[in-house]
Amino acid sequence: MTDINLSDSLLHWFAQNGRELPWRVKGKAHFDPYAVWISEIMLQQTTVKTVLDYFGRWMKRFPTLSDLAQADLQEVLLMWQGLGYYTRAKKIHECARILVDKYNGQIPSDRNELLKLPGIGAYTASSICCFAFNKPETVVDGNVIRVIARLYGLRHAVSKEEIYDLASQLTPTENGADYASAIMDLGATVCTPDNPTCIVCPWSSHCMARKKNLTDQIPVIQKPIKKERFGTLWLIKNMAGAYCIRKRPGKGLLSGLYEFPWTYSDEPSLYSKEEGIGFGSVTHVFTHFKLRLDIRIIKSETSPVSEGVFVLPSDLKEYPFSTLMKKVIAKIK
Ligand code: ADE
Repeated sequence: MTDINLSDSLLHWFAQNGRELPWRVKGKAHFDPYAVWISEIMLQQTTVKTVLDYFGRWMKRFPTLSDLAQADLQEVLLMWQGLGYYTRAKKIHECARILVDKYNGQIPSDRNELLKLPGIGAYTASSICCFAFNKPETVVDGNVIRVIARLYGLRHAVSKEEIYDLASQLTPTENGADYASAIMDLGATVCTPDNPTCIVCPWSSHCMARKKNLTDQIPVIQKPIKKERFGTLWLIKNMAGAYCIRKRPGKGLLSGLYEFPWTYSDEPSLYSKEEGIGFGSVTHVFTHFKLRLDIRIIKSETSPVSEGVFVLPSDLKEYPFSTLMKKVIAKIK
């Protein structure tokens, strides 16, 4: 396999077939590292299609790093609402303030410097280096894992590290931004999970999975088994028709977002079960576990938690909620 040919043929394919996306510029680095950084954080765990909307709204509201640094966290969370993984939004906000205070409002182009910042790990640092500064970094996301595993015909459960080692041998020393975009686009549009269109793939004549007719069996990815957790959520409704919500305290999962009061099943409950009426349930899959909350409605003029406030359904849109809580709101409308 001649690696030069592989990267050249992929770059050639990309010039003609690569997607036009607002956080990339074909042929060079994007002019705004801030836009690259925001898009890369949004794109983790979320599809390009979803991110297009969020990214557009975000850049309108916070066009520059200093706009973001000056904004309240609550507004940042409101803009992130529905994207999930809210610690990412909190870290973006924290990071923006550090960049303004200590880095003269500039996003560093050095990978090691980027790694010192909150919310920027190995993947994000590499992606900022290549998409914003055109450096020859190897980026590995789900698309790249699939493309490389198929190219090399890897029939075992692959790790990100193994894919990184193979992918980095193909990464050319120039055109970092285009090459990283190209390999992602190949995975997203040609080397798709189901029914890949190998006929138009610039790598098809080298692809081991294609040669052995194994594209439907590769990649093999070991998914961690998700533990299921349970809890009870209370819709506490007063005579005016308002519901009790509170800001989730602490530093953990979903902190800073609003919620209807709820507890895990192994914690003391807010009311006895008999005091409320069953109202279905909502489930949500988080990174490490799946959560099912049974909903119960109860009439009360007082909050069972000290930080609770009563809000009319029409005013709930003023508060940032997690995707899980939005599922509850959809049920009461
Ligand atoms: N996924 C992660 N980063 C991306 C990018 N820059 N373009 C398309 N998809 C991506």
